[in-house]
Amino acid sequence: MSRSGVRLLVLHGPNLNLLGAREPSIYGRVSLREIDRAIRDWAARTGTTVTIRQSNSEGQLVDWIHQAASRHDAMVINPAAYTHTSVALRDAVAAVALPTIEVHLSNVAARESYRHQSFIAEVAVGQISGFGVDSYLLGLDAARALLKRSAAAPPPRKRTR
Ligand code: DQA
Repeated sequence: MSRSGVRLLVLHGPNLNLLGAREPSIYGRVSLREIDRAIRDWAARTGTTVTIRQSNSEGQLVDWIHQAASRHDAMVINPAAYTHTSVALRDAVAAVALPTIEVHLSNVAARESYRHQSFIAEVAVGQISGFGVDSYLLGLDAARALLKRSAAAPPPRKRTR
């Protein structure tokens, strides 16, 4: 955590730029702009610094995850379809060891079987899925709570021998 407070990164993966028009029966009519506005409102309410990025490119997402290690305290990521395919994103999250919360708008466990597998889940602190835009806000709340808890934790005891 920096002296100026908690700094969180929100990453949106591929095709999420099409939200609002894309498969509305699954993802609803809320656009990515509206989701980002809800995230910024959350940031203002909680006094948190939030950076938001979206890319359709796996390599770009990997680069942002690498940079996040020195610029952010935790990350909330909706890896979208890369959730189910990307060892590269999984390895990037493992490499930076930044507390990461995986979020999904839809309930991936209730969808096609190929969506039940997440490469990110095993390196994330946890996963929130199925609450629409609230998945992001719950993920942000979880990241904040996690950072507060670790800041409040006493330092590990020194061994005497
Ligand atoms: C998604 C679920 C993924 O399976 C899918 O590929 C997406 C969106 C979600 O937010 O529900 O693009 O991550």
